[in-house]
Amino acid sequence: MVKSDEKVYPPPDDVVSSAHIQGKEYSELYRQSIENPDVFWSLQANKLLTWNKKWRSDTAICAYNFDTSLGPINIRWFEGSELNLCYNAVDRHVEAGYGDRVAFYWEGNDVEQDGKMTYQELQNLVCQISNYLKSVGIKKGDDVTIYMPMIPELPAAMLACARIGAVHSVVFAGFSAESLASRIQDSKPRLVVTATGSKRGPKEIPLKPIVDEALDICSKQGHMVEKCLVYDHHQAVSKESVNFHSGRDVWWQDAVLTQSTSCPVERMDAEAPLFKLYTSGSTGKPKAVLHTTAGYAVGAAATFKYVFDYKPGDIYWCTADCGWITGHSYVTYGPLFSCASQVLFEGVPTWPDAGRCWQIVDKLKVTIFYTAPTAIRALNAKGDSYVTKYSRSSLRLLGSVGEPINPEAWRWYYEVVGNSRCPIMDTWWQTETGAHMITPLVGSTPLKPGSATLPFFGVEPCICDEKGNEIHGEGEGLLMIKRPWPSIMRTVAGNHDRFEKTYFGMFKGMYFTGDGCRRDSDGYYWIIGRVDDVINVSGHRIGTAEVESALVGHPACAEAAVVPVEHAIKGQAIYAFVTLMEGYSHPPQDPTLKEALIGAVRKAIGAIATPDFIHWAPGLPKTRSGKIMRRILRKIAGKEEESLGDISTLADPSVVETLIALRENS
Ligand code: WTA
Repeated sequence: MVKSDEKVYPPPDDVVSSAHIQGKEYSELYRQSIENPDVFWSLQANKLLTWNKKWRSDTAICAYNFDTSLGPINIRWFEGSELNLCYNAVDRHVEAGYGDRVAFYWEGNDVEQDGKMTYQELQNLVCQISNYLKSVGIKKGDDVTIYMPMIPELPAAMLACARIGAVHSVVFAGFSAESLASRIQDSKPRLVVTATGSKRGPKEIPLKPIVDEALDICSKQGHMVEKCLVYDHHQAVSKESVNFHSGRDVWWQDAVLTQSTSCPVERMDAEAPLFKLYTSGSTGKPKAVLHTTAGYAVGAAATFKYVFDYKPGDIYWCTADCGWITGHSYVTYGPLFSCASQVLFEGVPTWPDAGRCWQIVDKLKVTIFYTAPTAIRALNAKGDSYVTKYSRSSLRLLGSVGEPINPEAWRWYYEVVGNSRCPIMDTWWQTETGAHMITPLVGSTPLKPGSATLPFFGVEPCICDEKGNEIHGEGEGLLMIKRPWPSIMRTVAGNHDRFEKTYFGMFKGMYFTGDGCRRDSDGYYWIIGRVDDVINVSGHRIGTAEVESALVGHPACAEAAVVPVEHAIKGQAIYAFVTLMEGYSHPPQDPTLKEALIGAVRKAIGAIATPDFIHWAPGLPKTRSGKIMRRILRKIAGKEEESLGDISTLADPSVVETLIALRENS
């Protein structure tokens, strides 16, 4: 982490003069958004979206309770209003004469695969999907699970749900059958949408067999999914190579493309559920973060426009998959609300080589590029020549999301990728926040590499010590938010109690982010990382509890404790301490056991949760009451035993030395 007195990058003059928000305007608007949210958000909501019915003007624009001692946590924005997000993302642009504008430039995994979809074509497709959903009885409020690769049909399926008021739950197509099954089991959709498969890098990834397995697991547990809609993505995996369950399975090409291309939109209440997205927390199974309609839309639309400073003519590219929140807010919703043209990329940045992103940037004249630090570090490691081979002269703005960006990666991104011309928007936010929370604005915020800088409009962060005392001015502690912003999650679907405990149980009256944070003397925020048992692997959240439960599910494993360890590319990697059952030695005789344990995690969660290290542990450091001291395990994993601190409270302090000795054998 750099100190705040290191180099600051002020916004270039030409950027300021054309930006939506210029210079001091930020602080004036920010003050208004905090002092007079009704005026600020009414204006934005009117400007950014088209409403069927406006919100009530006789009450506050946001009604809420953030304090469990006063009653249930409850947040409502734009009460009384009605709008449809699919209409806002698609139809209104066609009505305004932009039907020929490209909505998606699709780039397949292989260089020669590409395609385009205009707003008119998107409208036709969305209507056809909606009509199909209706034909099988899906209606307002019903759940639909989507498990698809990054092809235009994925955001189109999400929008079709929004059009008819169904609640989409997109599951990232890298999760395993068991993970998919537990998400289906939790939200109990009648229909699942998928594709034959995908291709990423040199690998063919069949998706349909994973869905088959997941649906099998669900039916054994009592939930029968009635319909499985399968897109034949023949460029990646052919129809002939997957099984077809007649009665349940339906080919997209037959069932959807034969529907009418017109379908009315449902008027949706401000607080009608829009989507669920599962994310990992400290304990237990992933939770279903629920977002609703009006507030989410205003948050996604406002941040997309102001943070990326979007203007007509921009070609925007966010590399995130729609299986994550970034793909929801900054692929499906935010950009389309602005009628933007964007790139959808199904492949990986290093295929066929590490120049792929810049080849696409030049080909499509991308102006705004948004990615994650892990991708930046991976590309940096391959050397500059893959970048400098391409001109990248169309780029004007870069973005970063998912984890803290280390200043070295920031500088490489800025100097090499952006030719020292393109400001970097380091956007801090979460699945739960729905939209950017702490971020620079290109025309007003001087940048400091490694800092997400300042709060977005309406966001009131605060830093607290462990007792909940607010730290004013410079300082470090837990990052809390004092009041609701429009796109805050409304509940954990099916478990409001868990929502209240997780986010509002830390300190009275405040939302707890789960992140540690420092504020410098200029008021800039520096996110330190998670303070709970969540590991951020390549920008993806993995709960230690989920990995531990997968390991313990293997018959040879008696106990497991998982901690993060620093990793040059991934940011953090998964480091697992494993105690084997009676009768096994540590390390075990069987050389295949390590792979088998890793395999158990991949099966239960997916490849993204693969542990990088298995450390054989005949015993774990525990307190006398049996609590595992993860702090000590983190130090051992990070080879920082000189700063172990006090270990005298351990039931058996000698385990520490045994573990250090065994590190080399693991
Ligand atoms: C981390 C992703 C530092 C943080 C949008 C947060 C970041 C978690 C940044 C949320 C950033 C995200 N700087 N840390 N710019 N962006 N994080 O829910 O720890 O997948 O709590 O949402 O990622 O991850 P999630």
